[in-house]
Amino acid sequence: MNAEETLARYASQIEEALVEALPSDPDTPPDLLEAMRYSLMAGGKRLRPILVLLAAEACGADPRDAMPAACAVEMVHTYSLIHDDLPAMDDDDLRRGQPTSHVAFGEAMAILAGDALLTRAFEVLAADLPDPVVAAECCRVLASAGGSDGMVGGQVADLAATDTSPESVDDPLQVLGAIHRRKTGRLLAASLELGAVVAGAEKQVRESLLDYGQQVGLAFQVADDLLDVEGDINRTGKTSGRDAHLGKWTYPALAGNDTSRRLARNCIASACAAVESLGEAGEPLKVLAEFVIERDH
Ligand code: IPE
Ligand code: IPE
Ligand code: MG
Ligand code: MG
Ligand code: MG
Repeated sequence: MNAEETLARYASQIEEALVEALPSDPDTPPDLLEAMRYSLMAGGKRLRPILVLLAAEACGADPRDAMPAACAVEMVHTYSLIHDDLPAMDDDDLRRGQPTSHVAFGEAMAILAGDALLTRAFEVLAADLPDPVVAAECCRVLASAGGSDGMVGGQVADLAATDTSPESVDDPLQVLGAIHRRKTGRLLAASLELGAVVAGAEKQVRESLLDYGQQVGLAFQVADDLLDVEGDINRTGKTSGRDAHLGKWTYPALAGNDTSRRLARNCIASACAAVESLGEAGEPLKVLAEFVIERDH
């Protein structure tokens, strides 16, 4: 099975589950629900939810049991994109091929739609995972990956770096690696961990999947940096050249495109080695790891 087929395998089930995961309580203001749905259902590769399902499957579980965790991580990811695009952050007006949330609904509603997706993610985990011990561990994993020492912490470091010259630090690539591991790598690695937790995987298997997720996570952000330089807006659904315009620290800016590509390839080789011990069950994960650096969107 190639990457497209692997991504397509659970695509319609994920889309259906995401619609169902949106709040149905009549107390939810209709315009808030519309803004949540607008960003969540705008497409996107759904890489993180697929990784949750594939990790659960690789551990011998029924991937459908991991669907609440798959939805939760995609909701946290989507909230992170809405906030990342705000004028106070990356000030972007195109996301997933359509106007960003704050352009479509105004800044206040974009902030609140992000807040509501974030909180709803934890409600989905707590309400829809039948085993309360598993649900609690999934909440912990997702909160840690998304929070102050994970994605949010990485975003703070990303913004701080923008105001600093790379020449002013000893090892800027090491600093940039730490930013990328937090702002993108943690949530991506959590996707693998969530699948392992739902499946009740042994410690060693969970650690292998986490190792894979960390490597793929770094490579994913390096590829994202490269796409900002080389990508086609019609494929990425995002405006190109924003990183240079904003003075972001990126791999292409600090190390050049070729070195960046080589580094990303090394990460993917390490990721594939990490799931070697899973044998045949790890094959779809290897296919997706390759996709992360070959992708044009
Ligand atoms: C974009 O993530 C933001 C980063 C973490 C680099 P994706 O490239 O996975 O975005 P979607 O979900 O497919 O829109
Ligand atoms: C964003 O990184 C990572 C997040 C936590 C959302 P970027 O700022 O490079 O993501 P894009 O390029 O806007 O999708
Ligand atoms: Mg950003
Ligand atoms: Mg951005
Ligand atoms: Mg980017």
